[in-house]
Amino acid sequence: MDFKDLAKKRRSVRSFKEDLLPRDLLRDLLETALNAPSAGNVQPWKFTVIQSSHIKEKLAAAALNQRWILEAPVVVVVQIDLERAFKTYGQRGSSLYAIQDTAAAIQTLLLYATDKGVASCWVGAFVEKEVSKILSLSSHLRPVALISLGYAAEAPPPPPRRSSEDVIDFEEDIT
Ligand SMILES: Cc1cc2nc3c(=O)[nH]c(=O)nc-3n(C[C@H](O)[C@H](O)[C@H](O)COP(=O)(O)O)c2cc1C
Repeated sequence: MDFKDLAKKRRSVRSFKEDLLPRDLLRDLLETALNAPSAGNVQPWKFTVIQSSHIKEKLAAAALNQRWILEAPVVVVVQIDLERAFKTYGQRGSSLYAIQDTAAAIQTLLLYATDKGVASCWVGAFVEKEVSKILSLSSHLRPVALISLGYAAEAPPPPPRRSSEDVIDFEEDIT
């Protein structure tokens, strides 16, 4: 697919069919996300793949009871490795670059998933402490996103975007 069409086609989907994602496809999606850029090539990310209902149930509860998450056959918990992120760039590495690095990996995952016909939603509203507890994460791992993946059971219309005039300034527009 033309890349511009792909970028426009990606949607947050919150209703999924029961069909499971083949393991090879899931691996391909995640491995492709690893090509994302990261500050100093530190790659401070970690991905935990959740497919069992009882853990998804707990994650949905930790995500402020977003029950639709249970419909997704896969939930990927994206984490920052704070130690790895801090080692090279200190506080800026762990509090800023690592957020941007994982966001770049997530967006790569979402776009490639779209290309492969896999629907997704980026979930950021959750209680971090609860997610850490559910997965028994070490203290140096900070969960930053839950990514639901599966086959879409809905086709949401594109939500409106702010106008380009509103958000893009060329230098001649600066007063
Ligand atoms: C950082 C971040 C956090 C988000 N958290 C949630 C969330 O907790 N629950 C949810 O349903 N959607 C969440 N979304 C999805 C947004 O609502 C969605 O991207 C936005 O409405 C635009 O729709 P689109 O993705 O279809 O273009 C999140 C997106 C981002 C980037």
